[in-house]
Amino acid sequence: MKGFRLLFVTVCVGFAPLAQADDQMVEEGRKIAFDVKKGNCLSCHNIPGGQASGNISVPLVAMQMRFPDKEVLRQNVWNQPQFRPHAMMPPFGKHQILTEEEIDKIVEFLYTL
Ligand code: HEC
Repeated sequence: MKGFRLLFVTVCVGFAPLAQADDQMVEEGRKIAFDVKKGNCLSCHNIPGGQASGNISVPLVAMQMRFPDKEVLRQNVWNQPQFRPHAMMPPFGKHQILTEEEIDKIVEFLYTL
């Protein structure tokens, strides 16, 4: 019993920093997505938690269900025109509007929606 408790504590303590890092990434992703000088995603997408959003495109909700493959979601942010050549969404990665790291954070955030 004692051994189990020790193991439990070790596991919790071991994973706590990991969970924290994830939370921080999600929070930073949200900031970048909402920032008008960064992602400015709200100008076209309705996103839960965002204010004064546009409705030029689809609301960004149920992302895990719609994009079971996270990499495909990332590609959508990195270079939307490859999926829809006439979409007005800027290719954030391809045109280096956002850094690879910023896109990773946005994807982490989107996956919580
Ligand atoms: C100028 C308008 C505009 C901006 C800004 C914009 N998008 Fe888009 N986005 C679109 C359009 C248009 C589409 C294509 C879907 C459609 O036909 O409405 C799209 C599609 C997407 C898709 C695919 C949705 C699906 O269901 O296939 C994702 C994910 C996405 N955008 C995320 C983002 C994120 C994240 C940002 C901010 C970093 C962003 N978009 C900024 C216009 C925009």
